[in-house]
Amino acid sequence: MFSNTRRSFLQKTGLASLGLLFGADAWSKNLQQALNDYQDVSPETLATEEDFWHYVQQSYTTSGGLINLNNGGVSPSPKIVQDAMKRYHDMSNEAPSYYMWRILDQGREPLREKLANLAGIHAEELALHRNASEALETVIFGLDLKAGDEVVLSKQDYPNMINAWKQREMRDGIKLVWVNHELPSVDNDYLTNNYTQKFTAKTKIVHITHIINWNGQIMPVRQIADIAKAQGIEVLVDGAHSFAHFDF
Ligand SMILES: Cc1ncc(COP(=O)(O)O)c(C=O)c1O
Repeated sequence: MFSNTRRSFLQKTGLASLGLLFGADAWSKNLQQALNDYQDVSPETLATEEDFWHYVQQSYTTSGGLINLNNGGVSPSPKIVQDAMKRYHDMSNEAPSYYMWRILDQGREPLREKLANLAGIHAEELALHRNASEALETVIFGLDLKAGDEVVLSKQDYPNMINAWKQREMRDGIKLVWVNHELPSVDNDYLTNNYTQKFTAKTKIVHITHIINWNGQIMPVRQIADIAKAQGIEVLVDGAHSFAHFDF
């Protein structure tokens, strides 16, 4: 039996550790403040604002021997994220059932809410995955498709997604119908027609990469989706690069 003082001490430390884990960090507040302060400043002016870039620079770690120019395909995590992951990993090993189930698990639903707010959707519509490949392949391998069903996709889609679709072609006998875009293009009707002219009565899915990783091309997803939906075709969007990248 715990005494009252002992119980309230434990309750308080429990709350304190929750606050430590999920409370907003001072540094991220500084960065958020800097982002707010400069939101109306033009890109040209912002490029010369050393105070702003100081916050951005200090939010990341760098290698002493290499200059990293690839922040797209393998984007580095901010320092605050790296530190939190290491800390949570250590805690999970120190007292697994306590920290994983009673403490860290409690952060998942509030996080889902925040991400849903950012995405402009309801939390129930959002599933958390470890990366875009796992999320997309869960859908690609999980869809109920049979031999002869058609999937429209493009030669410019991400190779791992193309390979996942080819795997279904080999295993299940679905038919892949290829679009080959001339890129870059600012002609949304051209891009849309490339997909929609391939639609037939057998088309079940159209797979669209929202921002093409090779050259930054943005696809008119809404325009394509409206036509697909009207024909009863499901739309799978590879949004690996679009979330939090531009307003859509
Ligand atoms: C268009 C596109 N889709 C999917 C992925 C896979 O993303 P992840 O590495 O998060 O699995 C990438 C990665 O660069 C990508 O560029």
